Amino acid sequence: METIVVTGGAGFIGSHVVDALLAAGKRVVVLDNFSTGKRANLARWTNHAALHIVVCDVAHGIFAALAPITRDHGPIARIVHLAAQVSVVHSVQNPLVDMSINYGGTLHVLEYARAQGVAKVAFASSAAVYGDVETMPVAEEAPCQPMSPYGIDKLASEFALDYYASVHGVATSALRFFNVYGPRQDPSSPYSGVISIFADRAKAGKPLTIFGDGSQTRDFVYVGDVVRALVAAIGDGNSRAIANVGTGGETSVLELARMIVELCGKRSKIEHAPARAGEILKSRARVDRLRDTFGIVAQTALVEGLRQTVL
Ligand code: NAD
Ligand code: UD1
Repeated sequence: METIVVTGGAGFIGSHVVDALLAAGKRVVVLDNFSTGKRANLARWTNHAALHIVVCDVAHGIFAALAPITRDHGPIARIVHLAAQVSVVHSVQNPLVDMSINYGGTLHVLEYARAQGVAKVAFASSAAVYGDVETMPVAEEAPCQPMSPYGIDKLASEFALDYYASVHGVATSALRFFNVYGPRQDPSSPYSGVISIFADRAKAGKPLTIFGDGSQTRDFVYVGDVVRALVAAIGDGNSRAIANVGTGGETSVLELARMIVELCGKRSKIEHAPARAGEILKSRARVDRLRDTFGIVAQTALVEGLRQTVL
């Protein structure tokens, strides 16, 4: 039985990846420090013989933390690297912390992969590597001008993946996620994903706050589609591939707020607050490469994904 490590496996996206890998008959090691991840996200697998939970900081001591697993079950075949500090705003306020987790963590994973002969590393990069791009949809060839430490660390991680692939022969893929949403996304921080916040408030009939006039757009992609992309990327023979993961569509934040209010049926008010400083106005992925390289096309329409998330 092949063993796959999922760093950040107790988090929102990671726990859905764990579901898919266990359902596919893999041995899964969740490596997570539970800073934002939760045991509840993995509750359905409690006592599953093929799930191992290793509590560890991805940027400190992963060799020692994984040693008992490899001693008992043999080497790690593949790593899905998702563990990160995920808030763009937090990275602006705490760039050194962001760098040590998001860039440092990637280096630790790649060093482990090199030293232990891991066959493939798939990495959660981000649309944040692009910065404010004028031409939409944004293709992978577009110049990267990240506007936050978070975006810089994701881009630096992509360079590190490429270096380990070309110089050390570790096969890698980087997936640039656009705005991912779905069940288990945690709404509790002011910097949580907008859909999780809006859904949480609309279900309680509370007002929704839009930063700015709400004309800013995002390419909202359902977590199930992101998981299919990650599972394809970790299992295939590609190396050094970089691909956007989005739907190819865009939705304004105002339109999104109206859809969520309507789905919840509680007539929440929509209020406005000043726009977030330095944030991008338009975001929409070009998705040809995701289809051509990994055979993946996002299938979940926004209204359907919102229903799965909200109801
Ligand atoms: P999340 O916060 O739910 O998951 C992150 C997980 O990483 C959590 O389980 C957390 O406990 C763990 N973690 C954080 N720091 C760690 C550390 N130092 N050591 C070990 N574990 C650590 O967020 P998510 O939305 O599931 O994000 C998963 C990945 O996808 C991240 O790399 C994020 O940057 C990337 N991403 C997410 C989105 C999105 O819209 N959600 C978009 C682009 C990229
Ligand atoms: C998100 C991700 C980031 C990822 C990037 C890729 C989160 C928390 N952040 O950043 O990890 O790299 O996508 O595209 O998932 N908004 C409101 N009201 C609110 C909350 C947000 O109007 O209560 C607006 C924001 O101002 C922004 C939009 O909604 O215009 C999306 O914000 P957010 O969900 O925080 O995501 P991004 O900043 O796009």
